[in-house]
Amino acid sequence: MSKITSQSTSTARPRKARQSAPPSKPTAAASGSLSIRPVRRGDLNAVIEIDAMVTGIAKLDYWNSLYRRYADAVATGQHFLVATISDEVVGFVIGEVRDWEFGSPPCGWVFAIDVRPDARLGGTATSLLQAICQGFRKAGVSKVRTLLSRDNTLILSFFRSQGMMIGPFIPLEMDLEP
Ligand SMILES: CC(C)(COP(=O)(O)OP(=O)(O)OC[C@H]1O[C@@H](n2cnc3c(N)ncnc32)[C@H](O)[C@@H]1OP(=O)(O)O)[C@@H](O)C(=O)NCCC(=O)NCCS
Repeated sequence: MSKITSQSTSTARPRKARQSAPPSKPTAAASGSLSIRPVRRGDLNAVIEIDAMVTGIAKLDYWNSLYRRYADAVATGQHFLVATISDEVVGFVIGEVRDWEFGSPPCGWVFAIDVRPDARLGGTATSLLQAICQGFRKAGVSKVRTLLSRDNTLILSFFRSQGMMIGPFIPLEMDLEP
């Protein structure tokens, strides 16, 4: 569940202001049609770059390991999808179906969703979430969950816009003594 607690410092903007003042220069989202597909090895550099833009850290080993675990694992309920515009990766989503974790019946978990800054506000994340939810449905589950940092109002605004609400779980943590 760690990725959703990323250190994004982006802030939510008033929706009305954005609707009345669209970006003045063309964005990636405006320049071609959007496709969603499973990740390929050749997408990894773009994924690492997008993640580094958001978190400020390029985690090569982490992404290579995630790719090995998720790329060909759709049959086991694991999903790693990318959004492309004109064959260029502009965003990604990662998640999986977990059985009886935290005592709950099987459900889909979204661990990470990121869109490149110049491709945002064009429906890319919405399409990514819809695609992964479709995969969860095919895997037989009817609920999707995520976990996010309470300071990340941007991702909170996004998930709320998709209809997600506060769930029945409380996250707990403590420091471990060495
Ligand atoms: C959150 C994020 C994934 C949204 O991607 P996106 O492609 O711009 O999202 P969409 O265009 O599909 O937006 C859907 C809805 O989300 C909400 N939303 C998106 N960006 C918003 C913003 N900056 N402020 C407020 N609401 C926002 C809106 O309700 C929007 O619907 P609308 O356009 O009809 O108003 C993207 O901004 C991002 O990657 N942010 C940083 C990454 C991050 O913090 N990820 C979480 C850690 S994994």
